[in-house]
Amino acid sequence: MNNTVFIRNAHQLVTLEGGSDAPRVGKQMEELHIIENGSVWIEGRKIAAVGTDAELLEKFSARLHEAEIIDATGKLVTPGFVDPHTHLVHAGTREQEFNMRLQGATYMEIMNAGGGIHSTTKATREATHDQLFEESYDRLNRFLKQGVTTIEAKSGYGLSLEHEIKQLEVAKQLNEYHPIDIVSTFMGAHAVPAEYKQDPDKFVDIVIKEMLPQVAISGLAEFNDVFCERGVFTPEQSKKILEAGKNLGLLPKIHADEIEPYSGAELAASVGAVSADHLLKASDQGIRQMAEAGVIAVLLPGTAFFLMAESANGRKMIDEGVAVALSTDCNPGSSPTVSLPLIMNLGCLKMGMTPAEVLTAVSINAAHAIKRGATIGSIETGKLADINIFNVPTYMHLQYMYGENHIDTVIKNGKKVVSGGSLLWQDTHTLN
Ligand code: NIG
Ligand code: FE
Repeated sequence: MNNTVFIRNAHQLVTLEGGSDAPRVGKQMEELHIIENGSVWIEGRKIAAVGTDAELLEKFSARLHEAEIIDATGKLVTPGFVDPHTHLVHAGTREQEFNMRLQGATYMEIMNAGGGIHSTTKATREATHDQLFEESYDRLNRFLKQGVTTIEAKSGYGLSLEHEIKQLEVAKQLNEYHPIDIVSTFMGAHAVPAEYKQDPDKFVDIVIKEMLPQVAISGLAEFNDVFCERGVFTPEQSKKILEAGKNLGLLPKIHADEIEPYSGAELAASVGAVSADHLLKASDQGIRQMAEAGVIAVLLPGTAFFLMAESANGRKMIDEGVAVALSTDCNPGSSPTVSLPLIMNLGCLKMGMTPAEVLTAVSINAAHAIKRGATIGSIETGKLADINIFNVPTYMHLQYMYGENHIDTVIKNGKKVVSGGSLLWQDTHTLN
């Protein structure tokens, strides 16, 4: 039977319409396109009509009996959130390193001593496909309950062809079994594995000559990412890796200027990256070049918070004309969270973004950061029906009443998957 859902009479329906072709920049990030007393008619997986309740009532008066009606009176309705940067598929946790950092050790010291990414790599290599699937599936449930309906997921804890492919295959299977849609990124250049510590260029060669071609053939990833950071991959090595990926059809992304200024933003602009992520230490020149080249800044204020560092200057980037998106960076080392709502709070409180800019940054701009601007990220006729309903009346309340999950209902691909804040299906791993 055809799935028909009628969401009625939201206090605010934030559509974010009109941004499907390009991310919003500058003042456009404030343009939410709010309909008061707004309603949405859903057919199958897609949005069939959007308007005021009176308009849609008139339009569909003869078909009301077909629809499941969701009363959104007094509530806020937004597009489903998009998280464009996660390390979703990984094994284990690193709470001991957190404790060490609280006592003065730095993130890079821990990594250089064989911990950090290396410790998660060890755990992920040892984990079976099924173990990784179970751990990550649980994480996806927790994302979904907070309104995240599409997620980007990186490999990068395998650091060998076999284990990188294992991570990407888990992501593929999760995409098939879990309601959240997953977009995959290959990140073989996440760290130089211990076995190549003495000869990092050799590892770069392996990424370029062995891993990237196999990943491209497998069709398991759309993007290629690299951790460009002093002591990890140099800008020259990063450029080679990103260009090699581009030649194979993998779109470049980059972990840039996270710990130290390292010309990562400039590199992102010169290789035409879809996004440059982190950017805590990005230079003024790099920011300008990103604006000119149309590189999206994916900012991760939860990572800065958790590493006790100063956040990226989101305010400045928006004012300079860079399209900004926000993300959790969900990973076991620098940001062990699935709470995009908390990241949104931090966007306001630590980066000087307005609540409207923040909402743009987790919807339409985040969709563009993973090349999905045409199908998700706004509530418009023809787009996938990925929709959040919140127990607050206006979008400003989301940021103002911080540290809380305000979700009432989540609709994913036209189906109600969360209601009253709880998941609606049994965890049988058979529902898509
Ligand atoms: O985005 N910076 C590099 N990668 C991740 C952290 C990965 C980890 O610590 O396990 C990040 O912060
Ligand atoms: Fe990351």
